[in-house]
Amino acid sequence: MSKTLIVAGLLVTSMSTFTPIARGQVKPTDVAHHEWWHHAVFYEVYPRSFADSNNDGVGDLNGITSKLGYLQHLGVKALWITPCFPSPQVDFGYDVSDYESIDPMYGTLADFDRLVAQSKAHDIKIILDFVPNHTSDQHKWFLESKSSRTSPKRDWYIWRDGKGPNQPPNNWTSTFGGSAWKYDPATGQYYYHYFYAEQPDLNWRNPEVVKAMLDAMRFWYKRGVAGFRLDAVDTLYEDPNLKDNPLLPGTDKFGFPNTNEIYNKKLPEVHDIMRAMRKVADEYGAVLIGETWTQNVAQLREYYGARNDELQMPMDLMMTEFKQVSAPAFRDHIGAVEGAGGWPVFVISNHDIVRSYTRWGDGVHNDDIAKLMAAMYLMLRGTPIMYYGEEIGMENSDPKSKDDVRDPIGRRGWPLEKGRDGERTPMQWSDAKNAGFTEVTPWLPVAPNYRTHNVVTETADPQSILNFYRRLLDLRRDEPALREGQYVALNPQDPNVFAFVRRLKGEGVLVALNMSGSSQTVKVDLKAAGFSQPKMRVLLTSSHTPITKVSTEIEMEPYSALIAKTVK
Ligand code: NOJ
Repeated sequence: MSKTLIVAGLLVTSMSTFTPIARGQVKPTDVAHHEWWHHAVFYEVYPRSFADSNNDGVGDLNGITSKLGYLQHLGVKALWITPCFPSPQVDFGYDVSDYESIDPMYGTLADFDRLVAQSKAHDIKIILDFVPNHTSDQHKWFLESKSSRTSPKRDWYIWRDGKGPNQPPNNWTSTFGGSAWKYDPATGQYYYHYFYAEQPDLNWRNPEVVKAMLDAMRFWYKRGVAGFRLDAVDTLYEDPNLKDNPLLPGTDKFGFPNTNEIYNKKLPEVHDIMRAMRKVADEYGAVLIGETWTQNVAQLREYYGARNDELQMPMDLMMTEFKQVSAPAFRDHIGAVEGAGGWPVFVISNHDIVRSYTRWGDGVHNDDIAKLMAAMYLMLRGTPIMYYGEEIGMENSDPKSKDDVRDPIGRRGWPLEKGRDGERTPMQWSDAKNAGFTEVTPWLPVAPNYRTHNVVTETADPQSILNFYRRLLDLRRDEPALREGQYVALNPQDPNVFAFVRRLKGEGVLVALNMSGSSQTVKVDLKAAGFSQPKMRVLLTSSHTPITKVSTEIEMEPYSALIAKTVK
């Protein structure tokens, strides 16, 4: 049922689900009651590697500010900046030693404020990365906690006696290798760390921890942050009785027994904290994005909350695990996402995952495949989160030897686990030395393809991946059907071409994606999408030989995308 409300002088036609937010703010929404983040394209910046303004080899906040013009022209509306808080950098910022400041390596709070102000002028919002599961072992809370068994902060972390001499409290393992427990000889107890030993887990069962962390979020909201990406939410809680996890066959990359992590992952209490964080976010009209690793769409659905009162944007990270470009696989997945309700959040790359250019590339058609996959996920119903450099086809560039590895897991797990350096190399701005990222030696070497795949070269080439991304983002902005239209799958049995229509009222936008390495003929019968056969106009194609007309059968080049619109 819809009703009309007068809120602060604005006329708002609302569905019965409309909930006015706290503090009298009016959230701007469109006719479908969408908020800004429903239609924004997000862009992840790994600050160490984006732009180095002071030539010390590491990127910084002023570097990001200097690139806002580029980002605005690309069409992104929100930047998620991975942690830039003070940190010993064991896990390159995911070991936070102060939640309410900026690491001097990246600049100052004044630089941050300037970034927020300048972003606003570029119509871009800033999202920070909040790390609730653990702090650095150098955080003052942990130093105090560690100082004695009777410290008032002892219970801010998870301390336990061992099972016996030289035996940790249970069999839980760290995802970064080895036991998840570290012995502290000074106090004779173990503390728990799901990630590195330098990242002790906070005890979220302690209300003082909850308050301190929610206050840290408020600190940034008050400085103009539009939301947070929440790190590692699955591991916030552990079974208080510390039951051993059941063993599974085989060993992990670090040689430890595989286990089914039922007692230290995805505990139901996680949802209480998501709701508490959402309440605070709602006070500021902010958005929460989750690092939500799930095995299926039903699991992902839970993170929106039973009453849509948890995360607005739990990330669908499942497609990043698809090893191959395959029409049936992507069609099935998107079908499942669409069937589950909730606003989808699509991701194909990030700083922990092999870059999509390399993961899905076949070594011959990599540029074509990069455009094809961009056309897929940027044309779907939902919010996409790009990873810096994806738009120019940055490749993964793994270290060549163990001595070159910077990411500790790569040193610990070499050669089976090479670490994540390969997907974190400097942004490729030009074909100049160090890809224009810095004038000194960068903290990681630039990837070899910077000579051909960089912003300057690709800006000048109308057929580049970069210009294709720009056009896709323009289409999302300009075509209402791409923003709000329903998703309707076509040709469900086609093994090669994944095709769908985005339908809004009488309009439709067809997206046809040849996911095979050979030419294909695709049948265009829009009856399934509720259209009698309409005329169509091509909006964009990645074909080398341009397609100008759409009839009931279209010839598609290998790994090519076609986007066309119904015309009346
Ligand atoms: C997920 C982050 O994306 C990753 O980079 C980090 O190492 C772990 N969480 C621990 O914070």
